Amino acid sequence: MTRLDRETKVGVLGAGAMGAGIAQVAAAYGHGVTLYDIDAGALSAAEAKLAKVMARLVEKGRVERAEAEAIRGRVRYAGDVSACADCGLIIEAIVENLDVKQKVFRDLESRVAAECVLATNTSSLSIASIAAACERPGRALGVHFFNPAPLMKLVEVIPGLATDEAVVRQTRALIDAWGKTSALAKDTPGFIVNRVARPFYGEAIRMLEEGVADAATIDWAFRTIGGFRMGPFQLMDFIGNDVNLKVTETVYEAFFYDPRYRPSLTQKRLVEAGRLGRKSGRGYYDYAPGAANPEPVEDRSLGEAIVARALAMLINEAVDAVFWRVASPEDVDLAMTRGVNYPKGLLAWANERGLDTTLAQLQALQEEYGEDRYRPSPLLKRMVREGRRFFE
Ligand code: NAI
Repeated sequence: MTRLDRETKVGVLGAGAMGAGIAQVAAAYGHGVTLYDIDAGALSAAEAKLAKVMARLVEKGRVERAEAEAIRGRVRYAGDVSACADCGLIIEAIVENLDVKQKVFRDLESRVAAECVLATNTSSLSIASIAAACERPGRALGVHFFNPAPLMKLVEVIPGLATDEAVVRQTRALIDAWGKTSALAKDTPGFIVNRVARPFYGEAIRMLEEGVADAATIDWAFRTIGGFRMGPFQLMDFIGNDVNLKVTETVYEAFFYDPRYRPSLTQKRLVEAGRLGRKSGRGYYDYAPGAANPEPVEDRSLGEAIVARALAMLINEAVDAVFWRVASPEDVDLAMTRGVNYPKGLLAWANERGLDTTLAQLQALQEEYGEDRYRPSPLLKRMVREGRRFFE
């Protein structure tokens, strides 16, 4: 394949939330970027957004005015995909629909050079299924950015079954050169972050449903004792309960209904009732001006128990991702700290708390509930048996 470097022309398909951000990242590095969308309104909105972001960066003194102009000048906006013909790397960020993505990839292949790398930003479809539409699946892979793409450091890089090793290596090197941190993930549901993070929401909802504590108290415990920036209910309201539930449902179905990822009725009812979170004015909390929300019960020992239970589940998920070779221990920890701002990598955290402590907690939960959901990862058991720790 030809080298990917600053001279490579980058095509971004889809000028929505993700595509516009990815185009900004690529243009900031120095690439000539073609941003393509079928919707002219999305293109003009993306252009206006980039102008606004750049003006703000100039105001804050983060970017020189001339540089901001240059970045804006490097992006051209196209309503016809043939404008991407000269690209060496294309990142697709259109609607999350397999048929549409396959059609776009097929169409694209007839227009670009044989060496052009084709990447998809899909969060829930398999890379294998998208690449299967390509005549040359060796050049197709996943590059999964986080929202907002210019700010979030992590990019998961996901080879498909047929992806050439050189394509993975070069794409990863380029993304790192953009100032991002790449983590290599296997083509499995949720990749790293959306899989390992499931218990952050799921176990918190379980504790709410069981009446261990209310949402405000659980959030308080995660923040002040766990050190997380936001509690799970705050975060679900922020992301949108519809979006968060959809990710959980997708991962659950894609894992052939593994009970560990089972969605919750509580969240489903909120979505059915239109309580989507901040964007609809109400979710777990009421966002109406002057609304009274319950204060947390600041009971330290209760808070510690809440965090310990959630952490045991999160660590188990992280260990299991390593067990199934979804990613290396280093990349699992990088993904959770850079992708979703966890205060510590879960495996480093496991070392700190003691792997044996985590295993004992999971065994106690499994014993109490009799549910497969709490089954400890075989790797956790093995490491405890052998007295091993991560990164040693
Ligand atoms: P969005 O809805 O904001 O933007 C999608 C854009 O694609 C729209 O402007 C639409 O007009 C355009 N589009 C639809 N069909 C098209 C076609 N056939 N050809 C050209 N353009 C077309 O969506 P968003 O949120 O930017 O997501 C895009 C992709 O990124 C999806 O695959 C999504 O799963 C993934 N993703 C989304 C994240 C998020 O937090 N929003 C995070 C990471 C990945």
